[in-house]
Amino acid sequence: MGLKILGTGYYLPETVVTNEDFTRIVDTSDEWIVKRTGMRERRIASEPTHVMAEEAARRAIENAGMSPEDIDLILCTTVTSDYITPSLACIIQGNIGAKNAVAFDINAACAAFVYALDMAHMYLQNGYKHILIVSAEGLSKITDYTDRSTCVLFGDAAGACIVGWGDGEFKSVLGSDGTGAHTLFARRPLNDVPFVTQVDPQSVDHFPDVNRPGVLYMDGREVYKFAVGAMSKALLGACEKAGLQPKDLDLIIPHQANLRIIQSAAKELGLPLERFYVNIDRYGNTSSACIPVALAELNAQGALVPGKKVGMVGFGAGLVYGGCVFTL
Ligand SMILES: CC(C)(COP(=O)(O)OP(=O)(O)OC[C@H]1O[C@@H](n2cnc3c(N)ncnc32)[C@H](O)[C@@H]1OP(=O)(O)O)[C@@H](O)C(=O)NCCC(=O)NCCS
Repeated sequence: MGLKILGTGYYLPETVVTNEDFTRIVDTSDEWIVKRTGMRERRIASEPTHVMAEEAARRAIENAGMSPEDIDLILCTTVTSDYITPSLACIIQGNIGAKNAVAFDINAACAAFVYALDMAHMYLQNGYKHILIVSAEGLSKITDYTDRSTCVLFGDAAGACIVGWGDGEFKSVLGSDGTGAHTLFARRPLNDVPFVTQVDPQSVDHFPDVNRPGVLYMDGREVYKFAVGAMSKALLGACEKAGLQPKDLDLIIPHQANLRIIQSAAKELGLPLERFYVNIDRYGNTSSACIPVALAELNAQGALVPGKKVGMVGFGAGLVYGGCVFTL
C-alpha cells in the first residue's frame, strides 16, 4: 500500500537575513557563502517554535479540506522544541484542537521528516487514517552567531502535511552511524544539582570541547563527506526496494544543507540537477523543516501531480540518513 499527501502547509518567519547581514557580525562575504553553499538568505524567527508549527499545521489541515478533529495521529519532528517536556506534538494537539489525535515527537535531526513519513506509513497499516506530520525548527535558538562556519547555514521554518492511504508503493531506507555523533551536536547545559558534582557527558564521550552548551558544533568537512555518500545510498536503496531506477523519479526533494551536496548526489545518481527541488538560496538549512516546506511550495505551485513518482532524501546529526520513494 502507498501513501498519499492529502494536504500541505508551511510557515516562514517574516525576518529575512541576507548574506550581507552576516558580514556585519562575522568575517565572511556574500561571495563565499553563495559559492560554498548556494545560500543567499534565510528567515529568523522571533516567535517560538510551537507557534510556527501550529500555523503550518493549521494551513495543512485547511489545504486538505479537513478539520482538526479528523486527525488521529500527530508526529512532530524538531531539535528546537520550546519545552524539554511535553512534546511539541502535544502542544500543537492542544492548541489546534485535534482532540482525537495521539501525539508525540521524533528526534532524527535533519532527516526526521523522512523518518516521520516512514513511521506514518507503518501507523497507516495499523489503522490510523489521517496523520499530521509537522516539522518545525527554530535553529536560530541553537546557532552560535560567533562561528562563521556554521551561523550562515541555518534558518527557521515549519512545514506540515497530512498523509493517508494511497495507491502505489511507499519504500524507504533509513540508516544511522552513531560513531559520527561527535561531528555534529549541541549539548544541554548542566543543571545545578545539590549533593553531587555532575560529570559533563562531553568529557566522558570525548566529543570535542569546542563550543558552549546549547549551541551547535559541526565538523563541516566530515559531515559533508558523510552527506554526499548518504544521499545517494538512501535514494538508490529506496529505488531498489521499489523496483525503480533513480531516472524513473519525476521529482526529488532533498534536504537543503548545501547546494554542492545536492549537485554531488545528482552527479552520483546520474540525474540532471533540475530533477531536484532546490530552495536553499531562499531559506538555507531549516533542518527537518526543509523537505515539508519544499513539499508545500511544490503543492502550491500545482507540481504534485497524481501519478508522479517522488523521492525524498535527508541526512543529519546522529549521524542519520533516510530516503523514500512513492507515487503521488
Ligand atoms: C560548512 C561548509 C559549507 C564549509 O565549506 P568548506 O568548503 O568545507 O569550507 P572549509 O570548512 O574547508 O573551510 C575553508 C575555509 O573557509 C573558511 N570559512 C568557513 N566559513 C566561512 C564563512 N562563512 N565565510 C568565509 N570563510 C569561511 C574556513 O575558516 C576555512 O578557512 P581556512 O582555510 O583559512 O582555515 C561545508 O563543509 C558543508 O556544507 N558541510 C556540510 C554541512 C552540512 O551538511 N550540515 C548540515 C547537516 S544536516
